[in-house]
Amino acid sequence: MSGRLAGKVSIVTGSSSGIGQSIAIRLASEGASVVVNYSSRPEGADDTRAQIEATGGKAIIVQANVSKMADIQNLMDETWKQLGRCDILVNNAGIEKEADFWDVTEQDYDAVLDVNLKGAFFLTQAFVRRLRDAKQPGRIINISSVHEDMVFPHFSTYCASKGAMRMLMRNLSVELGPLGITVNNIAPGAIATPINKSLLEDKPKLDALLKNIPLGRMGTPEEVASLAAFLASDEAAYVTGSTYVLDGGLMRNYHEQ
Ligand code: BGC
Repeated sequence: MSGRLAGKVSIVTGSSSGIGQSIAIRLASEGASVVVNYSSRPEGADDTRAQIEATGGKAIIVQANVSKMADIQNLMDETWKQLGRCDILVNNAGIEKEADFWDVTEQDYDAVLDVNLKGAFFLTQAFVRRLRDAKQPGRIINISSVHEDMVFPHFSTYCASKGAMRMLMRNLSVELGPLGITVNNIAPGAIATPINKSLLEDKPKLDALLKNIPLGRMGTPEEVASLAAFLASDEAAYVTGSTYVLDGGLMRNYHEQ
């Protein structure tokens, strides 16, 4: 397919639903071959691939739980084996768990940090090792959150993982620049996706949130995907070490009442 990303290969973790699914579809529509990754919902991955193929795009599916080192290695190996290269890595897979700080269990802490941080960390490492050996440039796009910077009471594990992702991105922009690899974060605010299911079903909570968003609505996964496509394209060649906030103004909104 022709387009800004023609000839490129991209892995999008967690692309069986939500923001990841939209990013996979968008990158494919701009010409990239996409590795659709899922952890536990094969039907979601099938749906993503079907949507990509319906418009003439190319996608393969690779199952991997990014919190497991063997799965990470297999995801990278399968990508190179089946598609011969990998240019763009989108670290999108993420989970959140709500709990008062004093009630957080070791199990919940491990689950959130392992997917959101360890997964992105070591998949990026596997990606970079391949690029370094092949002497090829690349793009890393992390889907973090406004909560890489903004508090989110009762989500301490999530905030810890996203804050760490911000510093990881900044650090890697310096270490990987000489290899021709850029790294940036997209920090979405409230986006209508499955991670927000309980919020979307709780009208008073949702109304309270919408009041805090200057643009007065939630964002869409397609709006996140459009920014990801820009960051993956040649147009963003000189962009590295930055977080792009996409939140309808939520993060800047403060009012006394
Ligand atoms: C979280 C959502 C939350 C939003 C805005 C996102 O990172 O996943 O649960 O509604 O931030 O606070």
